[in-house]
Parts: sequence; structure tokens; C-alpha cells
Amino acid sequence: MDVDNQVVAEIEARLGAKFVRTGADTEGFIEDFWGRAWGRTLCVAQPGSTDEVAAVMAICHRHGIAVFPQGGNTSTCLGAVPDVGGRSVVLALGRMNRILSVDPVDGSLVAEAGCILADIQQAASDVDRLFPLSLGAEGSCQIGGNVSTNAGGTSVLRYGNTRDLVLGMEVVLPDGRIWNGLRTLRKNNTGYDLKHLFIGAEGTLGVITKVALKLFPSLGPMTTVLISFDDIADLTSFTEPLRRSFDTAIIAMELISGSEVRIVNTIFPDLNVPYDPETGWFLLVDIASDAPAGVSDLLQEVLGAAMEAEKILDVLVAANEAQRASIWRLRHSVTEAHKKYGMGMSHDIAIPIVEIPRFIQTAGSKVAAAFPEAEMALVGHVGDGNLHYNVMFEMSVWNAIPDQMKTRKAVYKVVYDIAASMNGTFSAEHGIGALHVAEMKTYKPPIELEIMRGIKSLLDPDNRMNPGRVLPL
Ligand code: FAD
Ligand code: LAC
Ligand code: ZN
Repeated sequence: MDVDNQVVAEIEARLGAKFVRTGADTEGFIEDFWGRAWGRTLCVAQPGSTDEVAAVMAICHRHGIAVFPQGGNTSTCLGAVPDVGGRSVVLALGRMNRILSVDPVDGSLVAEAGCILADIQQAASDVDRLFPLSLGAEGSCQIGGNVSTNAGGTSVLRYGNTRDLVLGMEVVLPDGRIWNGLRTLRKNNTGYDLKHLFIGAEGTLGVITKVALKLFPSLGPMTTVLISFDDIADLTSFTEPLRRSFDTAIIAMELISGSEVRIVNTIFPDLNVPYDPETGWFLLVDIASDAPAGVSDLLQEVLGAAMEAEKILDVLVAANEAQRASIWRLRHSVTEAHKKYGMGMSHDIAIPIVEIPRFIQTAGSKVAAAFPEAEMALVGHVGDGNLHYNVMFEMSVWNAIPDQMKTRKAVYKVVYDIAASMNGTFSAEHGIGALHVAEMKTYKPPIELEIMRGIKSLLDPDNRMNPGRVLPL
């Protein structure tokens, strides 16, 4: 038996053949979220426990086989599918979906890495607590994937990124050893805090098998406001007083361009959000019920002043839960709409909050000058200075472009150079995956890459964990 068949046979012997997919059965695990990239693999292993993960990792270690950990496969930057080499194992965590404990007094929840994010939110809610991480993919992404990408989402403003929500974890190392750091302590200054190495490592250092998470008090009913305005230069004239007045009661502050709303409505016409199709911009704000007394009076005061100064056009306060849900459905449908609409180049940039209007103006004119056939559509967690700056090419326009890769790289360069010139980043929350490895080389200082390579070679000296992802050679 050759080595490749031997690997599959050993994994089958440990997990049971039922949980080892090969050939056509790997479909769904080897194609990325966008349907734009495919890889190949010896097999997809679906372990049911930490010990089984450790066994698969030890087998791959012994035979020098690469491993691609996979959660819900919602990575937008080619992070979760295998490469085309084919001599690899995809480790799909979906069977490890048990919630192990929920303790409202300790304010913690312990779960296996393959738990779907929405199930964790629900388990917290069942004991009248909140797990605040929230994003459009929450019905299919897994907590292990969220932790591995340090996902952001729509409630970072108050609760921070995933990194801020993790208390402890269990990890299987590339050679199959298990590190048990599954604690719910709030304080533990006993040397380097190793969990932070694995948060945001995108599966390049080990496999997260269990996580301990922070829970918060439930928030109660939310006031959802949709503000429309025309000139992006006016943005901070009302976001600043809103933030000053409502402080941490603002849970989400999302910017959506009119062009983005039009794209979503074209693809999902049943969304039914009342809006003026000529509007330039929308700001979606969620305010929690623990806001200073009298949310509506304070809103009236702040937004009334902005309206009087002609900074905003209109304000829609969701009248009921159904209207709130449809506004948020519109917001969360953006990525699915792009997938169907055309070829979009998404730029997940972050810049200092004060630079947002200048970034949008500069990128708008530079992209329009270089790529007049492109359409700009923008959505972003603006309260965090994070914009998803999407340069969209309608499909027939894109198909007519002779050198698509060159165009893609040229678009990236225009947008990322502007972010870099404002002391920003080319990846705020989606990570690097295989898609942005080149940018790591261009925009990260050599000393940062050197330290990262040192950590990588300590934990994964053979470069078998997600090879070709995150770190440039
Ligand atoms: P995958 O896509 O399966 O994997 C992502 C990376 O993590 C890969 O490198 C993989 O190897 C690694 N990985 C997965 N599980 C493990 C594990 N157990 N151990 C080690 N490594 C592992 N991201 C945001 O930050 N904010 C958003 O608002 C947001 N919205 C989104 C909306 C949509 C509609 C979609 C499709 C994606 C969105 N994303 C967003 C991107 C994506 O990062 C998140 O959906 C999510 O964090 C990825 O989780 P996943 O389980 O799908 O991971
Ligand atoms: C969002 C994803 C794309 O914010 O991060 O919709
Ligand atoms: Zn986002």
C-alpha cells in the first residue's frame, strides 16, 4: 500500500469508514464559500472527539501529510479549503458540536469547536445570558472557525472581537499532542498567554477542539435606527454625538452605501425595507435598552439637530421586531447578494475612525479613474473603523476582461495602498487565508513576519498545518 492509501486506511481504522470521506463524497468540503476555488484532498476526516482529532493529527504527523482544519467553510479569503496538491487531509470539525456546560453564575459557556455560532447564542439565551458575537454567517460558521479567524461582526463596538470573548481553549498540536488550556479564569498571569497564539492563527498552529467563552447579561429589546444621508463627509457630525450620548449602549453601528442596498434589493427583492433608491448612504444603529433613560428623547435631540443642520435626510426607527429583523436581514444579505450579482473584490480594510470619509472619497476617485467600468458598493462596521470596500464588476463586464488576475491585483493595490497610507490594515476581521498572503509580504514589517515565522516553526516545523495560508514563504 502506498503512503497516501496507508494514511486514509489508518484514519478509517481510527474514526470508522463512515466518518472518512473520499472521492466524490468530499464535495462540499473542497470548494470555497464563493464557489470560486477548489482543492483536492486524500480524504475529509470527521472526528467526533478530541482524542480522535489527536489520532488523526498523529497519523498525518507520522506520514508527513498536510492538514487543513475546516469549520463552517464560510471563510471569505480561501482559508478553509485544501490546496490543489491533493496530498492532504481536511479535518472537518462539524461532528464536534456539543455544548459542554453553560454557567450563568460563572458567566461562561464551554463548547466543542464544531458548534454552530447560532447554537451557542441560543444556549446562552436559554439561561438568560448573551453571547454577543454576531455575523451574517452565524447560522453556519462554527465557534472554532470564529476563534481561529478572530471574527469581528456587528457587536465589536461594545463587546470586542472574538479574542475578547475567549477565556480558555483546548488545542491539538500538529504532532497530535493535546494542550488543555480550557479554563474559565478571568485572570491568569502565569507567563505567556498561549490561547492568544491560536486566536486568529487561522489553523496554522494547531486544531482548536474546545473553547471556554464569556457570557454577558441579556440586553432586552433593542432600538434599531436607519439613518439616511447623502454626503459621507457629514458622517462623524452625527456619529460622534450619537456615541457620546449613548456610549456603550450602542451595540452596532453599520454603514451601508445606497449602491449596496440597490444590489441587495436586486438580488433579494422580497426584503421589503422602505428606502429611497436615490439615497447615497445609510447608517444602521442598534441601541440597547440599558441606554441612558429616554432613548427616543435623546435620539430626537441628537438626530433632530443633525437634520436641522441638513446633515441627514431621514430617520427610520424600527416600529416593531419584524421591521427590525428585515432591516438586519438586508444588512446580513450583502455577502450572499454579491455572490449572485457579479465579480466583487471585497477589501476588508480598517483605518482610524476619523479617516473614514477621506478614505471613501480617495478610494472612490482612484478606483473610478483606474477602473471606470467598476461599481463601488460598501458596507462596514463603521463604529470600528472597518469597511468592506467592494469593487464590483457586473458579470458580463468581468468576463470581457482579458487578464482578470492582473486586474484583480491592480484593484487590490489601489485600495490597500490608500488604507496603508492612512496607517490602516488590509485585513481587519476576515484574516489572510490563501487570498492575501502576497499582501502580508507587501504591507507587514519584516520584523513582524520574522516573529510569526519563529512561532510557526516552533509549533509546526514541517509546515503541515494549512500550508500556503497566512505566512508568505
Ligand atoms: P472556516 O471558514 O471553516 O475556517 C476559517 C479558518 O479557520 C480556516 O483557516 C480554517 O482552517 C480555520 N479553522 C476553522 N476551524 C478551526 C479549528 N477548530 N481549529 C483550527 N483552525 C480552524 N467575518 C467576520 O469577522 N465578521 C463578519 O461580520 C463576517 N460576516 C460574514 C458573513 C458571511 C455571509 C460570510 C459567508 C462570512 C462572514 N465572515 C465574517 C467571514 C468568516 O470569517 C466567518 O464567517 C467565520 O469566523 C468563519 O468561521 P467558519 O467556521 O466558517 O470557519
Ligand atoms: C459582513 C462580512 C462580509 O460584515 O464581514 O457582512
Ligand atoms: Zn464584516
